[in-house]
Amino acid sequence: MKVGFIGLGRMGARMAANLLKAGHEVTVYNRTPGKTQALVEQGAHAAAQVADACRGDAAITMLADDGALESVVFGAKGVIGSLGQGALHICMSTISVALSERLAAAHANAGQCFVAAPVFGRPEAAAAAKLFIVAAGAPDAVDTCLPLFEALGQKTFSIGDRPQAANLVKLSGNFLLASMIEALGEAMALVGKAGIDRRQYLDLLTSTLFTAPVYKTYGGLIAEEKFEPAGFAAPLGHKDIRLTLAAAESLRVPMPLASLLRDRFLTLLAQGGEALDWSAIGQLAAKDAGQVDRLR
Ligand SMILES: NC(=O)c1ccc[n+]([C@@H]2O[C@H](COP(=O)([O-])OP(=O)(O)OC[C@H]3O[C@@H](n4cnc5c(N)ncnc54)[C@H](OP(=O)(O)O)[C@@H]3O)[C@@H](O)[C@H]2O)c1
Repeated sequence: MKVGFIGLGRMGARMAANLLKAGHEVTVYNRTPGKTQALVEQGAHAAAQVADACRGDAAITMLADDGALESVVFGAKGVIGSLGQGALHICMSTISVALSERLAAAHANAGQCFVAAPVFGRPEAAAAAKLFIVAAGAPDAVDTCLPLFEALGQKTFSIGDRPQAANLVKLSGNFLLASMIEALGEAMALVGKAGIDRRQYLDLLTSTLFTAPVYKTYGGLIAEEKFEPAGFAAPLGHKDIRLTLAAAESLRVPMPLASLLRDRFLTLLAQGGEALDWSAIGQLAAKDAGQVDRLR
């Protein structure tokens, strides 16, 4: 397919490279222009502005947050103003339910299609084309996306025709991940302060009752205190909990754990954790217990 890719951050650059490998014709755009160079060397066309990445069958956006997406989508030279009739905007960022609804309506007004397709998987999974993709939108539009999703992920879950449902599912998943990181951090602080080897403890957990990959991945990061370089940066984790709470508020679903996590992320950010991986909230319990004196 002829596709534009907008947003070449930790995830986007790796995803765009996989589209090229699969033989798609890809035009890349990034706010900071230097990031297009490596992909141009792999066969991509560089777009000088957003509009130049919107001349094909589809434009994929993989931007940080709602504000970033709004700044490239709206306005005369934005995605909506530049995509052709019947063309597709595939939003793979983790954004709010409210913005997803707004985008679906705006694209429909412009005679275009909108598919929300947020992903599970860190940059390593993006590089290995092993993402899990949660897609929602008009069935024929989602079908059109499938060759692209095959190049990006290991499995696509189609969850209906309302794009915002995919965003809500993604946010709920990140809420669960953050809850797991916090709980694991507290348990590891407890055994660690008693002098038990945290690595050995983690091996015990992950080879018995806690065999899910997320315990291995995040438990390993916490045990090794490996929070830099960030794979998923702390401000983005904070964003996802805020967006979960916003969706919960509009649906009138109390989520006391999510409220606690919001404060955990605020603590992390307030204590200089801006550049750390979001799993560094798993270090806060050890800090509160006086085991470590600073976050690293
Ligand atoms: N990292 C993960 O493990 C992971 C996993 C699943 C989902 N996600 C989601 O995927 C999305 C991207 O994550 P990431 O880790 O790739 O983020 P990232 O490395 O911080 O990259 C963010 C991208 O957004 C662009 N951007 C930020 N603000 C902008 C603005 N105001 N206008 C235009 N462009 C702007 C950045 O451009 P510049 O280069 O110019 O800064 C960059 O291309 C996020 O929604 C995140 O929640 C991430």
